[in-house]
Amino acid sequence: MSQPSLSLVDTDPAELAVDAIVIGLHSQPDDGGALLPAAGAESIAAAFDGKLTSTLALLGASGAPGEVTKLATLGTIAAPLVVAVGLGNEPTGSAPSLETLRRGAGAAVRALAGSATVALALPLPDDADAPGVLRATLEGAMLGGYRFAGYKTVPQPNRREPVTALQVHVPDAADAAAVAEVTRAEVVARAVRQTRDWINMPPNLLRPPQFADAVVAAAEGSGLEVEVLDFDELKAGGYGGIVAVGQGSEEPPRLVRLRYVPEGVADPKRVALVGKGITFDTGGISIKPNAGMWEMKSDMSGAAAVGAAMIAIAALKPAVAVTGYLAMAENMPSGSAYRPGDVITMFNGKRVEVYNTDAEGRMVLGDAIARACADGTDYVLETSTLTGGQVISLGKRTAGLMGSDAAVELIKAAGEATGEPAWPMPLPDEVRKGMESDIADISQTNSNLDRAGHMLQGGVFLREFVADGVEWAHIDIAGPSFHSGEATGYWTKGGTGVPVRTFLTAIDQLAAS
Ligand code: BES
Ligand code: ZN
Ligand code: MN
Repeated sequence: MSQPSLSLVDTDPAELAVDAIVIGLHSQPDDGGALLPAAGAESIAAAFDGKLTSTLALLGASGAPGEVTKLATLGTIAAPLVVAVGLGNEPTGSAPSLETLRRGAGAAVRALAGSATVALALPLPDDADAPGVLRATLEGAMLGGYRFAGYKTVPQPNRREPVTALQVHVPDAADAAAVAEVTRAEVVARAVRQTRDWINMPPNLLRPPQFADAVVAAAEGSGLEVEVLDFDELKAGGYGGIVAVGQGSEEPPRLVRLRYVPEGVADPKRVALVGKGITFDTGGISIKPNAGMWEMKSDMSGAAAVGAAMIAIAALKPAVAVTGYLAMAENMPSGSAYRPGDVITMFNGKRVEVYNTDAEGRMVLGDAIARACADGTDYVLETSTLTGGQVISLGKRTAGLMGSDAAVELIKAAGEATGEPAWPMPLPDEVRKGMESDIADISQTNSNLDRAGHMLQGGVFLREFVADGVEWAHIDIAGPSFHSGEATGYWTKGGTGVPVRTFLTAIDQLAAS
């Protein structure tokens, strides 16, 4: 589904002839929770002649973050509908937190499905903070309006279509920095929406060859250099992990490589983005129970994020060389599937004793990470729906983060800035000791099948495939990649697109340093 158009306006919000206009609403805890229109809403509040907050209160508004209250304007302003979105307590600084704005903008635009043109008049400090604040509003609005097209043969009656045109009110619509943010937001939102689309597709329609084809098609015209390794090339190339996992499926595995090289930059920093692309994870011979197994269609979220981020990078043109590695396979039980007990020789020559075919992610990623290092890179930033242990320890919104200090710091900061939190986790020696194999270099999971430090076992395993001197981060997104509840903020049901915006922010950071 195509995304809405995005533009800046600097005319008085009260005079904008749009279908709906979004304003922010705070509560004032020091004043018994009395409502306060947020910055940006001044002219609209004035047009209501002092009755705006009392009317919103009458309609049940409290200013709670993400709360949406619709009010017919009955001719008081040009737009027929005002939507007040809660932005929480009156901010102590110049604006609410970036994440509050992102979620507020997202919730408002989602609630406005059915309106074609929507303007946002949200807080926008006229100072150095403005770029971050504007970016948050633009991204939140663009992502909250996402909807997966789906496969219904008969359209639902009275379906309210997503917003088609977004206008964002700013002090000066011709300001170069603000205009650049619009261009960036369109690219970033397209990448996140693309990631969500791929995740939300059913696994019968996105098996590894189709996923590879879809990524190649999406990258067409981007300027990225594209290489796809098929099953025979993977076997011949020594990608034992990808081959082992992929051999159980009738649809063969793929390794997709997307390369961006900045123009006119002598000796640029080199970054590898690596993503887990298991198009469906049954567990293989160590088969999973059926409850919730369908969600394993999202086990390619990491590769989807890497593919979409690469296309965005080609458009944003940072001064860093970036190569994406998408390790795609379908983990199936069959007569040709790999087994617990198998010893697999990986791309870097290390031998792995398999204990559980359901720990397939680290098998395909070990190869992809080793290939990235063989190509030559300064950073490996890898993301995967790797372990249920991540969800147990950090929940559904905060990713698990492991790796070298510099890369962990980079990703943690980028995650914080974008509302995609990732929390540092250790790589303890005793966890590595628990993965000694009697007959191979390392066992794939704890050799006594002990699940203690489950998420950390994944990080400790992947470290074996990172070459010396390479800064690396492993971002376990098992929880944050897929949102199974009702839509909230700028998260819609299904794929979230985490950590696309983290990657893009981290790359910007590396380009600037
Ligand atoms: N794809 C799963 C992890 C997962 C679980 C992602 C829940 C999203 C939500 C992964 O391949 C897996 O099966 N991991 C096993 C590892 C174990 C066998 C060592 C797990 O987490 O139980
Ligand atoms: Zn998996
Ligand atoms: Mn698995």
